[in-house]
Amino acid sequence: MSLPPGFLDELRTRTSLSQVVGRKVMWDQRKSNQAKGDMWAPCPFHQEKTASFHVDDRKGFYYCFGCHEKGDAISFVQSTENVGFMEAVEILAQEAGMPMPAQDPQAQQKADRRSQIADVTEAAVAWYRMQLRAGAGAAARDYINRRGLDQAAQDRFEIGYAPNARQGAFQALKGKGFDPELIIAAGIATKPDDGGTPYDAFRDRITFPIRDPRGRCIGFGGRAMDPNARAKYLNSRETELFDKGRALYNHGPAREATGKGQRLIVAEGYMDVIALDRAGFTGAVAPLGTAITEHQLQMLWRISDEPIVALDGDRAGLQAAMRLIDLALPLLEAGKSLRFCLLPQGTDPDDLIKAKGADAMAELLARAEPMVTLLWQRETEGKVFDSPERRASLDRSLRQAVSRIKDMSLRKHYGQALNDLRFQLFRAPRRSDWQPGQRGGPHRGPAAPMAATRATPLAAGAMSDLDMRSALILATLCLTPEMIDEFENALDRLEPTDPDQARLAGFLLGTTERDANRLRDALAQANLLPTLENLLSLGHVRIAPPVRSPGDRTKAAQCLAEEFAKLAARRGIEDEMAEALADLGDGGDSRLSWRLNSALHARQQADAPKTGDGNSNPEDETALSKRLADLIETRAWEKKTR
Ligand code: UTP
Ligand code: MN
Repeated sequence: MSLPPGFLDELRTRTSLSQVVGRKVMWDQRKSNQAKGDMWAPCPFHQEKTASFHVDDRKGFYYCFGCHEKGDAISFVQSTENVGFMEAVEILAQEAGMPMPAQDPQAQQKADRRSQIADVTEAAVAWYRMQLRAGAGAAARDYINRRGLDQAAQDRFEIGYAPNARQGAFQALKGKGFDPELIIAAGIATKPDDGGTPYDAFRDRITFPIRDPRGRCIGFGGRAMDPNARAKYLNSRETELFDKGRALYNHGPAREATGKGQRLIVAEGYMDVIALDRAGFTGAVAPLGTAITEHQLQMLWRISDEPIVALDGDRAGLQAAMRLIDLALPLLEAGKSLRFCLLPQGTDPDDLIKAKGADAMAELLARAEPMVTLLWQRETEGKVFDSPERRASLDRSLRQAVSRIKDMSLRKHYGQALNDLRFQLFRAPRRSDWQPGQRGGPHRGPAAPMAATRATPLAAGAMSDLDMRSALILATLCLTPEMIDEFENALDRLEPTDPDQARLAGFLLGTTERDANRLRDALAQANLLPTLENLLSLGHVRIAPPVRSPGDRTKAAQCLAEEFAKLAARRGIEDEMAEALADLGDGGDSRLSWRLNSALHARQQADAPKTGDGNSNPEDETALSKRLADLIETRAWEKKTR
């Protein structure tokens, strides 16, 4: 429906914003000046005790100095009543005694039709929910329980079950008196092209109602329980009510939560939103099975200036992040941005929260990267800038990216930030704790002390077994870089605890150099040569075959395969030990000693020479036994003093 010209102006002049707002807040009488229409209150959009929420009654605008929420009477009603623009206008017009203009009949008809369709979807929500409780829903209930969705979660997200019937929902809704044509228009059933009888859109699937911010059910997501199903998730097809590119799962509740101070988190799927909500991150939304569209991005920005996009840190997730950056760049305006929370590879928020809890999620969210960092990463990752041509080409791609930002002042700031990063990369590599290829960025943490000035771990005699192995691995790869590709995945998982080694590993993952001499130059430029030299001076590295015959691929491959395998085995055991230690609190001592014993045994196995290289190491075993004993003692002592 469109409003006649002047209607909104009239409405705004007739409406007192302080009156509208006054119903939702307690004015701070001391700070406010009623005569001037200058009113202050604790903000209704976020939790606070002080009065940072300001209403300028004369101008009809509000602004919160705490959460930066701003708008006019209409947007205030929209946010606080959780209604759309038109309803907000209706509410205010009624209060102002302004009759709503007569709707043009066509628009009225359309609105009627949409609300009829919404009646069908609403009935479907109820019916699917009932099916979940019925006999046919037993397997679905099992599945839902297995995924850890308790009754509260099921109620909150109105989870249901579409039974495996050709006309289950169709017949049920028809029986309730709904016009079959509307059931099809609502996307609950589909009419085949050949003119046959309609069939249910969702069969044998868990159903997730998708609601618009006004609360109308516009469609469904359906998850197959059968791992062999053709599509894991199915969404309603597009209908008069459902436009995938303009809808967000959990939009209304997330908007409300964000108004109360929650961060707006954009996850990939239904289960992620639910898991986030359950873990207390109630401002979570997801697009519906497609990449985020421009519309969705604008919707997100209407809710929050800086939504956090939570993505799986795998290649696909990074690619999605980059696509989103490309979409966002030309749309950026001052104050609007995105942050990216990259989760460990192969993990979505649902997985992470299940495995590590809400705190781990909160920590990752707190460390979400600003867009500019990812942009920089994209342009530099895996590249070496060892020639004027290469640097010029980087400059060009950075300029291109920045030139796509339309907002001039923002463009300037981006240019500056990227320039700083560029300066750190080219002019002052020593000062930077960051190398291309290493996730994160120069902002993360204080710069590490220079490699050359720090005592080597070896000198301190404190090198762990894991560090010794990774030292040999890294040295071998530096001397025979042709092997990097073959061991890239293992290298990626290496994660040395020693910061110098970690930097070197990050560099090797990022570099495309496969020639040992040129790699050496690149290492020198990145100030990593001292690290390599430290590694090469280690006794066990110096005598290793691939170090004694640098460039010998066979020797390198053998050594790398073996070291990585041992490392993996050892890692598993470290985990086992950590778990066992965590159990100490249970008082299950016999179980503990059994586990520590079997960990020790497993480790001996892992170290046992497979090819008879005579590398059995009795000192190792004694050291480990001693370490285990020490650990137990320390913990026992801790328990006593608590
Ligand atoms: P994922 O495959 O990552 O699934 O799809 P998920 O969210 O982790 O789901 P669970 O944990 O296995 O149940 C992410 C999102 O992509 C869309 C859905 O919206 C899903 O939530 N998707 C995925 C589809 O639309 N169709 C598919 O076949 C798969
Ligand atoms: Mn998942």
